[in-house]
Amino acid sequence: MDSLFNQLVMSCANTLPMHMPGHKRNTTLAPYLKKLAADIDITEILGFDHLHAPGGILRDGMDRAARVFHAEHSFFLVGGSSLGMLASIRAATRPGDAILMARNCHLSVYNAIALNHLKPVYIYPEVNEDYQINASISAEALEEAIISRRDAKVLVLTNPTYEGVLSDLTAIIDMAHQYGLTVIVDEAHGAHLGLSPLFPSGAVRAGADIVVQSLHKTMPSLTQTALAHVRSAPLAQEMQRQLSVFETTSPSFLLLASIDSCVKLIQDEGDRLFAAWAEALGAFDRMVGQLQVLRVLGYGQERGSTLPHVWGLEPSKLYISTLSADLNGQELASLLRRSYHIEPEMIAPQGVLAMTGMGDTVHTLTRLGKALVEIDREQSPVKQPKASFTVPRARSVMPMQTAERAPYQLVPVEEAAERIIAERLIVYPPGVPVLVPGEEISPQVVRYVMASMAADNTILHSRSEQADLIAVLRDA
Ligand SMILES: Cc1ncc(COP(=O)(O)O)c(C=O)c1O
Repeated sequence: MDSLFNQLVMSCANTLPMHMPGHKRNTTLAPYLKKLAADIDITEILGFDHLHAPGGILRDGMDRAARVFHAEHSFFLVGGSSLGMLASIRAATRPGDAILMARNCHLSVYNAIALNHLKPVYIYPEVNEDYQINASISAEALEEAIISRRDAKVLVLTNPTYEGVLSDLTAIIDMAHQYGLTVIVDEAHGAHLGLSPLFPSGAVRAGADIVVQSLHKTMPSLTQTALAHVRSAPLAQEMQRQLSVFETTSPSFLLLASIDSCVKLIQDEGDRLFAAWAEALGAFDRMVGQLQVLRVLGYGQERGSTLPHVWGLEPSKLYISTLSADLNGQELASLLRRSYHIEPEMIAPQGVLAMTGMGDTVHTLTRLGKALVEIDREQSPVKQPKASFTVPRARSVMPMQTAERAPYQLVPVEEAAERIIAERLIVYPPGVPVLVPGEEISPQVVRYVMASMAADNTILHSRSEQADLIAVLRDA
């Protein structure tokens, strides 16, 4: 079976493109195209199959992905996990259904709920106060939600979280199935799970009905590339239909070839590549054992500790806490950036997330480790415990869809306490809504948003165009 990438290279070198895209591989006309790999940039033409009705080379590639990822049916996605979540929730629900979902789900899940007029019941993850992060979803919290809403059809969870926290998926999925729920797992940050004994097992093996994974987040593949894995044939058929609703009819074959090649690489050389990644993480681990005030979740001196409310951790995420140090996440990030030319993935007041991927090496991770050791040496321990900075729990007073369409006004964030929010408020990254329409803006939320702004996090509103103005219901 030839790879999509090889076929692209051969075909594009030998044919005159009288088809899209309009750049026609003319790098003299537009020199930037050379760097953008325009010489093999095509969309669907004869011989290259159809993403929305795969029966040729794309079908072969998706079947290979299913074998490699131990799935029944796999789909190539060129719109990231965001697309996968939209399509999978539409595939598994009917308009108006009740849906159980972890409150720390990504924005795309909330978009799916709004589009399909679903009635969400939120399951709050536990909070780990040592690191001030969202911890695992407990089976008890799930059972409570199930009992409160017996007509719910679907459960949606994020596993692992942005910071690498895992929940006990096997127990959760078994329980959800006993109650007849379809389980969708947002494994955007875990495309590397379940493929090697050196990394934790993932949602496919735990029996989830649909699993969505961003290849681009942790694996060697271009941005926007993702996979969805579906267990049953009828659900897979519906998933195909829903992907056609949300996904472009001109898929980039650069992206599709990237997915196909990445899957093939894992198939052919996965053992070696996972071992090299684990070795690089091991080298980092040995270095950060020396840290005095900075702490890395699951690494160094923290290794082996049993963290309250954390069922498990996956090792690719390096969450560096500044809670015990006399500097904040913003200051740590700017030291890493200015003095070491290291750009972190996410910055919060209480820490910084460094994301590793299969492309990291002993060299890159010891460079990060050395920077942290040097920075740590210059820091003093914090004099008094820092204020808690976890996303406050929200109280819903009105259905999201009703509040979203009600008259609203814009008010400064610091004056918004006790009002009802009329928009989605997101601190980015990671894109988990702090509040959705119809929820009360508590004083804790105001403090959280102000601190996030001070830390230079992007504040996304769905209505207000200014970070410091917030849309609230006019008559409430
Ligand atoms: C938990 C989670 N799910 C889904 C997404 C969306 O993934 P993508 O960027 O591949 O669309 C993200 C993005 O950060 C995420 O963190």
